[in-house]
Amino acid sequence: MQIITEPAEMQSIAEKLRLNRQLIGVVMTMGALHEGHLSLVKLARQSAGTVILTIFVNPMQFGPAEDLHRYPRPFEQDVALAKSAGVDYLFAPNVSSIYPDRYQTTLLCGDLASRFEGEQRPGHFNGMATVVTKLFNITKPHRAIFGEKDAQQLAIIRQIVADLNLDITVVPAPIVREENGLAVSSRNIYLSSQERNMASVLYKGLCHAEKRITEREKDLLAVAAEVTTMIDSTPGCRTDYVDFVDEERFELAETAREGQEYRLLIAAYCGNVRLIDNIRVQA
Ligand code: PAJ
Repeated sequence: MQIITEPAEMQSIAEKLRLNRQLIGVVMTMGALHEGHLSLVKLARQSAGTVILTIFVNPMQFGPAEDLHRYPRPFEQDVALAKSAGVDYLFAPNVSSIYPDRYQTTLLCGDLASRFEGEQRPGHFNGMATVVTKLFNITKPHRAIFGEKDAQQLAIIRQIVADLNLDITVVPAPIVREENGLAVSSRNIYLSSQERNMASVLYKGLCHAEKRITEREKDLLAVAAEVTTMIDSTPGCRTDYVDFVDEERFELAETAREGQEYRLLIAAYCGNVRLIDNIRVQA
């Protein structure tokens, strides 16, 4: 595995790979690699000949009160994990090479980025969209793997690829969970062991919702309210939002239509740690 830090060098390697007719798969991360990230690498391995993993803690997508400075950065450990997962190129640039002194440009996402996470984290998705687009241009992938864990992020990236005519296939990857159902996340290290146990109520809520929809309940607002009650009645846990969206447009859905796909989105605090999770259901 080769470690690259300069965008120009990564770009010229990617260009050469393309000239040699290599299929490039990219997995973008902020590091602190875990089983979720590694499952994306595995999918990339299956769908591309060369795998590029990017590690970059993107300052542009963090709000002023967020955890940019304490975000975990176990680089040596990440290098070892990436190597054993079969990554070919690890691209880990410095902040100054991605955003040099006179950097000015930001991608402006539309309506899709204004709801849910966008409401709670103003500017987050514009910052995410900007760095993802820059990393697309630097790594020149044919395939890009993103986790369903961040369902709204995935929807926005699909929108960018369509709107900007990017010649990239976006491949979604299922959510990897711990034994108690908690979705694996780099931010789970902020949870105490007690909070980690409490946090399993999010998954219990998602499973409850799935069961209710399978039983043909069509009132999505009522199901979301039941899940909200489950979470809010768990000591130390408090919901931020619990909403169904239709899978295609990512818009709030109130009543299920037979055969349609929906996604239940949850954002909730366990102690002071804000967690997001979701599940896809079919009515
Ligand atoms: P990060 O949170 O490090 O996540 C990197 C990728 O891993 C994302 O596609 C995310 O959805 C996926 N992922 C995280 N946890 C997962 C889990 N438990 N199961 C499956 N996939 C999981 O998302 C970002 O970084 C950044 O916003 C980024 C796209 C890199 C842009 O800065």
